Amino acid sequence: MAEKWTPDSWRSLPILQVPDYPDQEAVAAVEQRLSTYPPLVFAGEARALKRQLANVAAGNAFLLQGGDCAESFAEHHPDHIRDFFRAFLQMAVVLTYAASQPVVKVGRIAGQFAKPRSSSVEKKDDIELPSYRGDIINDIAFSEEGRIPDPNRQAMAYRQSAATLNLLRAFSQGGFANLDQVHQWMLGFITDSPQGHRYKELADRITEALAFMRACGVDATSVPQLNSTDFFTSHEALLLGYEEALTRVDSTSGDWYATSGHMLWIGDRTRQPDHAHVEFFRGIKNPIGLKCGPSLTPDGLIELIDKLNPENEAGRLTLICRFGADKVFDHLPQLIRAVEREGRTVVWSCDPMHGNTITAGGYKTRPFERILKEVEAFFAVHRAEGTHAGGIHIEMTGRDVTECTGGAHALTAEQLGDRYHTHCDPRLNANQALELAFLIAENLKKERDGRTMKQAVNG
Ligand code: TRP
Ligand code: MN
Repeated sequence: MAEKWTPDSWRSLPILQVPDYPDQEAVAAVEQRLSTYPPLVFAGEARALKRQLANVAAGNAFLLQGGDCAESFAEHHPDHIRDFFRAFLQMAVVLTYAASQPVVKVGRIAGQFAKPRSSSVEKKDDIELPSYRGDIINDIAFSEEGRIPDPNRQAMAYRQSAATLNLLRAFSQGGFANLDQVHQWMLGFITDSPQGHRYKELADRITEALAFMRACGVDATSVPQLNSTDFFTSHEALLLGYEEALTRVDSTSGDWYATSGHMLWIGDRTRQPDHAHVEFFRGIKNPIGLKCGPSLTPDGLIELIDKLNPENEAGRLTLICRFGADKVFDHLPQLIRAVEREGRTVVWSCDPMHGNTITAGGYKTRPFERILKEVEAFFAVHRAEGTHAGGIHIEMTGRDVTECTGGAHALTAEQLGDRYHTHCDPRLNANQALELAFLIAENLKKERDGRTMKQAVNG
């Protein structure tokens, strides 16, 4: 029997990646205050997302999850949120059209503020300071003062998340996501690119289809799905004190839900089965993600699934694989086989970003070819194993940044300095994100054609 779970039962267990707050009383005071604030999401929404993800696990939908590596306090501008949402909708519509399947839309946004770090200190010249751990903890500026963890930042992160989520809800329900707007989602700087042309063609076809349906009497007044979309939020739940303060009992079911976002995930660095993060996640009923890197063995994965989804509930667990373009074939097949052998229901998603980070020209970057290669490998392995390549998890922005090299504009290492704005890891710009969406679309079509063939053969 598993030990009794409480929102704070993680506190007695070993934990990695925690900030060194100098003033514990101040931390407790902030957590106390947060625990009285309104939840950011409602349990019923988390359940709705879980149902949509169960549909992905069954092979009937695709998960699109993406956003900033880290959100920042300095960049809390509505245009930034709007441009992200536009680029995201473009990707979603390309994928929906290609796969003829629903796309489950989950942003890495409205709460993505805490960052795990490979080293707890950062050195510049002769000065050594604590590492930046995300705006919810300390300041990115390399100064002694700024790098001291400040608990009041948690309240700021909460407020920024609330405001961001509010705008996203307005966009997704208030008309911005109306399929009649499919041409307007195009961002100015994309218009004249190969992706831009390709997107315009697809948008023309959708507009034509909508006009035909309208003539048949089907429009947004009879089918509200045409002018709105379900958009969910997610982040890495790294800072457990913050998460605990926002974990509440759902009055309709009596279950515990994290209310800081719809879906939370466990990072590759904090997934030790007997540590605090896994303990916290085991008790919340939200849909959750687990990052799976090269060090995860098939047995280790099954052990984690036993803890995180003992009832084998569909839609509860998404495995977000991040091996690196050259390592997918070494790791993914054995994980898939273990999961299939044990009869576990999961969503398989591909994070092609985190295993492909290099340094070039003094910048942390990711070659776009490597990202595409990891995605291709992910789909190829699933085709070979007969399982559903269920989703993608990316770091992206709607802005025209220069952070990942390559893509249709053949961004070079020398150009990285032009518009390198990320607070943490290099993100795909809107153009690269759209190019990736078209590549995934082709793979989804292949998967669909493969299935149709199988059905024909099996009669
Ligand atoms: N409501 C449907 C969906 O979310 C159709 C839709 C409306 C849509 N707006 C969209 C799909 C924007 C993709 C992008 O799937
Ligand atoms: Mn990252």
